[in-house]
Amino acid sequence: KKKALRVLITGAAGQIGYALAPQVAVGSMLGADQPIILHLLDVEPAKNALEGLRMELVDGAYPLLEGVLTFTDVAAACKDVDVAVMVGGYPRKAGEERKDVMAKNVSIYQQQASALEANASKDVKVVVVANPANTNALILAENAPSIPRENITCLTRLDHNRALGQVAERTGSHVGIVKNVIIWGNHSSTQYPDVNHGTVGGKPIRSAVNDDTWLNGDFITTVQQRGAAIIKARGLSSALSAANAVCNHVRDWVRGTPGGSWTSMGVVSDGSYGVQRGLVYSYPVTCAGGKWKVVQGLPIDGPSRERLRVTEAELVEERDLALQCLAEKK
Ligand code: NAI
Repeated sequence: KKKALRVLITGAAGQIGYALAPQVAVGSMLGADQPIILHLLDVEPAKNALEGLRMELVDGAYPLLEGVLTFTDVAAACKDVDVAVMVGGYPRKAGEERKDVMAKNVSIYQQQASALEANASKDVKVVVVANPANTNALILAENAPSIPRENITCLTRLDHNRALGQVAERTGSHVGIVKNVIIWGNHSSTQYPDVNHGTVGGKPIRSAVNDDTWLNGDFITTVQQRGAAIIKARGLSSALSAANAVCNHVRDWVRGTPGGSWTSMGVVSDGSYGVQRGLVYSYPVTCAGGKWKVVQGLPIDGPSRERLRVTEAELVEERDLALQCLAEKK
């Protein structure tokens, strides 16, 4: 029997936590043969909700679940964790300045970075979900120098899946035969969902869809604005699709991407495709042996190049704001 892996979920008492914990418990993240111990962290005021979640997980009688531990102390929560899903953070509320929100997240991610560095497994794999996801991941990387850079990622798989879903619906095909879309850049409305290298049943997406006006226009804005559309429809932001995307992200990272296909992940840039080194930027990646690699050498046309720059510029601005907040704290 395999040794249990410890999965930390921060912000576990929230919406995504409620959808994610059971998906991890049934094996969607690490496989149907992998025992799990869940570490659930939230803040003190959410203590009762967290205990309620723990009770429900016990009541699920999940065969793979060897333990459910709840925490309000971040250092204790990080002890020996193999996978850390960072869902907790400070969301922007109506009327708040970007800078104030950034300052709060800088504080949270600085503290959580130190806790992970000091307590997590040496090979911990981190995925940041909380917004601004790319920049929170960058702050985490800056403040946890002993965690290898490639172990710190952010979630853009939900955007990737949304793009697959749109192409599937438009072409009347099953989503399983749509492959190799790309999300470039920031998990925000400046992201670039790129179909130029993708296929539907082996046929280029552009010819399968046969409507460039839609692909260059409404398709892109629909994917970019999907989060807002879900909030409008549900009155709450995406949770089950976000939780599903987290499981997809970690599963592909740990167990590998299927042959002939790639996925999208926010990773620390090594300068690929002319993006500034050190930014956490979403790229097409393949994974094998627990490591991701940016897909190299894709031809990027003029309009796409411009879109890659726009989302990069937003990330530079976010990073500068974050670094300014860090400097002001010192
Ligand atoms: P939520 O508000 O329901 O839950 C967030 C939880 O985090 C709350 O229980 C809160 O108490 C907790 N929390 C706040 N500060 C914390 C801290 N310092 N330590 C531990 N826990 C803390 O929010 P929801 O819907 O679960 O979303 C969580 C985050 O994920 C948001 O920032 C949201 O914008 C982001 N998101 C990102 C997506 C992506 O694709 N990257 C998709 C959907 C949401």
